[in-house]
Amino acid sequence: MMMKKYKTTIFLPTRYPHYYHCQHMLSSFICLLSSFHAAHSFRRNFSSSLGPRHFPDYSPKKPTIKDSQLVHNICTTIKQRPFDPIQRVLKPFESRFKSDHFIWVLMDIKDQYNLVLNFFHWLCLRRSPSLEARCIVIQISVAAKDPKMAHGLIHDFWTKPNVDASLPFTLFMEKLIYTYKDWGSNPHVFDIFFQVLVQVGILDGAKKLFYKMLNYGVVISVDSCNMYLSQLSKNIDGCKTTPRIFSEFSEEGVKWNTTSHNIMIHALCRMGKVKEAHNLLLQMELRGYMCDAVSFSTMINGYCQIGEYNVVLKLMDEMQIKGLKPNMFTLNSVIFLLCKIGKVADAEKVLREMIYQKIVPDKVVYTTLIDGFCKAGNVTAAYRLFEEMRRKNIFPDPVTYTALISGNCQKGNISEAYSLFLEMRNREMEVDEVTYTVLIDGYCKDGQIKEAFSLHNQMVRMGLTPNIVTYTALVDGLCKQGEMDTANELLLEICAKGLKLNICTYNSLVNGLCKLGNIVQAIKLVEDMEVAGIYPDTYTYTTLMDAYCKAGDMDKAHELLRRMLDKGLQPTVVTFNVLMNGFCMAGMLEDGKRLLKWMLEKGIMPNATTYNSLMKQYSIRNDMHATTEIYRGLLGEGLSPNANTYDILIRGHCKARNMKEAWFLHKEMVEKGYDLSVNAYNALIKGFIKRKRIQEAKTLFDEMRKKGLAADRELYGIFMDMNYHEGNLDLTLELCDEALEKSIVDKTGK
Ligand SMILES: *[C@@H]1O[C@H](CO)[C@@H](O)[C@H](O)[C@H]1NC(C)=O
Ligand SMILES: *[C@@H]1O[C@H](CO)[C@@H](O)[C@H](O)[C@H]1NC(C)=O
Ligand SMILES: *[C@@H]1O[C@H](CO)[C@@H](O)[C@H](O)[C@H]1NC(C)=O
Ligand SMILES: *[C@@H]1O[C@H](CO)[C@@H](O)[C@H](O)[C@H]1NC(C)=O
Repeated sequence: MMMKKYKTTIFLPTRYPHYYHCQHMLSSFICLLSSFHAAHSFRRNFSSSLGPRHFPDYSPKKPTIKDSQLVHNICTTIKQRPFDPIQRVLKPFESRFKSDHFIWVLMDIKDQYNLVLNFFHWLCLRRSPSLEARCIVIQISVAAKDPKMAHGLIHDFWTKPNVDASLPFTLFMEKLIYTYKDWGSNPHVFDIFFQVLVQVGILDGAKKLFYKMLNYGVVISVDSCNMYLSQLSKNIDGCKTTPRIFSEFSEEGVKWNTTSHNIMIHALCRMGKVKEAHNLLLQMELRGYMCDAVSFSTMINGYCQIGEYNVVLKLMDEMQIKGLKPNMFTLNSVIFLLCKIGKVADAEKVLREMIYQKIVPDKVVYTTLIDGFCKAGNVTAAYRLFEEMRRKNIFPDPVTYTALISGNCQKGNISEAYSLFLEMRNREMEVDEVTYTVLIDGYCKDGQIKEAFSLHNQMVRMGLTPNIVTYTALVDGLCKQGEMDTANELLLEICAKGLKLNICTYNSLVNGLCKLGNIVQAIKLVEDMEVAGIYPDTYTYTTLMDAYCKAGDMDKAHELLRRMLDKGLQPTVVTFNVLMNGFCMAGMLEDGKRLLKWMLEKGIMPNATTYNSLMKQYSIRNDMHATTEIYRGLLGEGLSPNANTYDILIRGHCKARNMKEAWFLHKEMVEKGYDLSVNAYNALIKGFIKRKRIQEAKTLFDEMRKKGLAADRELYGIFMDMNYHEGNLDLTLELCDEALEKSIVDKTGK
């Protein structure tokens, strides 16, 4: 195979791959020489060792004497009057003109291309030209270096309604071969025919043409073959055939170039064979093809789709080293991927790099990033980009607005979400179902059900159709408010509209019933749901488990966990936190510890909340030894304690009078940027007072007051006494005021 490859490389004229008569003769010759050594590698050349087939001669019908006379008259007349309108010139002959005359006349005038076209045009106005006549004119136009005309003539044949498109393409192919030698002899005609077949979607026809032409020693050009590959890869079934075509065509003498490789990389990525695509990219370089920006961009897109973030960054670096600029589409994929995996800050770095490289990001890129920030809960950063966009006169579209509305809703800033919505309307932007649904969901989550329903009505009035997601938001809102009856009414309405409830709708209902403590009905609903063919997911089970845990029925909760595992559903950290909380509340600390161990064995990473539940119970039991042990476990898993963890530990240690330990944790917490809770302050101050470490107690008390936190009344009493005895009357009175004020506030607050 190697030999073959080299041979083609040497003998194939690169510019005109179709003129390769001589190539075949030479290769046949070499074949004979080397057949001795590698007979089977050269089978194809052997079969063509007689040389390519010759194109047939054109053998038209002979005209009668009378016909000849007429043809002669027509020819002389039109040649004599080349500048007169052809209709007028041919008027006297019109009544006697027959289809056959056309070809006889062409034989005479074929060297005068303009005349041929005029004449053909004249014919077309009168009748549909025969396939043979059309093919002849096609050959003449290619010979006259007018490929556009040839293309049009072929294309018309397949697309014009008056043409019998059911005609098999083979008939066309045969006619083109038949008329080739005598009317044009420019092999480019087959290239054009091939391109049209590709364009009109007759792909197997194109392939048949390719092989047919090989018999005549004509190889279709890379350009056309690229079109073929690219058309094939437009659908997934076609994609699957591209690798075979790629290697087959190459064996037949097509010299693929960079563009061809790029199409293949794209096709392989589309099929999800990203690694294979990458291999091709590497091979491309090895074989000396230039990898261009498209090659890399396509590859990067492929990796973005499968979420291989590390390779994406590596390829981006490689591109930069090679001085290739990624295109907007690629950058958008990269930014999208980074946002999806939660690396929003990195995504923004890509944008900055892009701007630095003088690529002007478009609204799609900005919107992707704004959406990323919103989903990550960083609305401030999203607004910053929104402003930047406007400063650069890149106009946000409904998608951008919807992302921001959603971000604000998530943060509970409904008024801001609504004003963005109004801004959209003021700008006469198209507000669609998605935007309405996002806003309705926001209002529901905020407990503003009435407003949500009024938006729903508005949406219907505008001719938009709420979908199941919209209704699920409404159902969820009602359930969260405990309005199960209204939710049920709405359900009936949804079903009457023919919409199918989905798992989210059911989960909202289950959640609503559980919140009302109606576990029995929730379980019943889950059974109904299974009958309807919708299977409970991890969320459903977790909700039910939570309800059982809260009701103190750990056996039932445990049974559900078992059922869930039997169904192959993977519990999440939320599931475990629910169970952990249940065990802890029920005082089943040993079970809690076992659960934690089991969870780690299953490879489900607990978070600080999981550990906090256990630590809290042990510290309530004054078992600081066990509490500390669990804390060490948390650190051992590489988790970071959160403010709540510190709070539990500090208060526990203070109560156990381990002031040294408590003080150390306090310092660590502050260094990490966490604020102490009121309770932790109270515990620490009381601990120090008990240990007679008044100075530390005073410092903390001042710090607490500066932060505007209210110490408990006992501490105010202690410090008032202390200051009174020290003679600080001003401060004593000040504290007195403060204590009164806080206690009043406390009382009204309760
Ligand atoms: C590949 O070949 C086609 C046709 O010969 C040409 O139009 C195209 O520019 C080439 N592409 C590259 C990247 O060389
Ligand atoms: C929001 O994103 C910006 C930019 O990445 C970052 O500097 C900031 O800390 C983020 N804010 C929050 C609250 O995460
Ligand atoms: C809502 O968003 C606006 C604009 O970002 C901000 O000015 C306002 O403080 C936010 N309100 C709340 C309650 O977060
Ligand atoms: C731990 O997971 C719970 C879900 O059960 C979540 O609400 C909480 O925010 C997580 N805590 C931390 C510190 O990530």
